[in-house]
Amino acid sequence: MKPFKLGVLGYGKMGKSLIDGLLERGFIDESAIHLYTPHSAKSALVDHPDMVIQPSAEDLVQAVDVVLCCVKPQILPEVILDLRMALRHKVLISIAAGIRTDQLIALTDPSTQVLRVMPNLAVQVLKGVTLISKAHTLDSDWFNTCAVMFEKLGTVMLIDEDKMDIGSVLTGSLPAYLAFFLDSVKLGSASQFSEAETLEMLYETVKGTIAYLEETHITPLELINRVCSPNGSTIEGIRYLRDQHVEDLMAHAVRQSEARAKALGNVDCEK
Ligand SMILES: NC(=O)c1ccc[n+]([C@@H]2O[C@H](COP(=O)([O-])OP(=O)(O)OC[C@H]3O[C@@H](n4cnc5c(N)ncnc54)[C@H](OP(=O)(O)O)[C@@H]3O)[C@@H](O)[C@H]2O)c1
Repeated sequence: MKPFKLGVLGYGKMGKSLIDGLLERGFIDESAIHLYTPHSAKSALVDHPDMVIQPSAEDLVQAVDVVLCCVKPQILPEVILDLRMALRHKVLISIAAGIRTDQLIALTDPSTQVLRVMPNLAVQVLKGVTLISKAHTLDSDWFNTCAVMFEKLGTVMLIDEDKMDIGSVLTGSLPAYLAFFLDSVKLGSASQFSEAETLEMLYETVKGTIAYLEETHITPLELINRVCSPNGSTIEGIRYLRDQHVEDLMAHAVRQSEARAKALGNVDCEK
């Protein structure tokens, strides 16, 4: 793999997570990462003093080979259109929810190679899942380089463009769904343990449950049946959740997130 300079636009939650993960993994030298971020440059420099802070987005794009765009979907079209000329013959990676590859192509010059990915927050701790859209326009060298970059941060899955929105719910949103569930369970235990004890029990149990599911190859539904003995304590709670239609509510929540991801893509990408 040839060495390259990586430009990151935006040092928010994802920009920081991706940079932290890549540096932790030793994928790239800190000095080969250039950053433009309107307000967070100082904190970025505290985290990574050898990173190159660029004074503008245009300076950033001109200085690098690959631009990793970590801005909100709502402002992405404006940001990219302003950089259209500077992005000629560069690689542009977008992590924005909802913004489709055809929109990235429409926003950029034909010489710009574009890649739509959907990472999740766990890339920071090298256990992320990154979905890569098959509709990318990268040549094989750049595709391999970018795929390796995200593989360093966890699991990579290549999927159809039309499944990116629902995929982004299953991977990008799921950490928040799971945390929501854990927080609710914690509430139910009514602080009978210290915070540290409660969290240890919850985290270790989640890790053990995932390992059990993976190693036994049973489905989540089968696991529910294994834990719920008739007239036992677990079945009481599961029965209550079912009576309250929590499965329907969760399925509806997933569809709501997917619809919102699609709506985020309803932005004007005309030149
Ligand atoms: N959060 C997640 O779990 C997650 C997961 C997958 C994908 N995503 C996607 O990741 C993207 C970023 O999300 P986020 O959660 O990281 O948002 P965020 O924390 O709000 O960060 C957005 C960043 O964009 C920067 N920014 C604003 N205007 C800019 C401009 N003109 N040029 C360059 N940078 C600019 C801001 O910089 P300053 O701080 O300097 O103002 C801010 O740091 C979104 O498109 C989202 O759909 C998020």
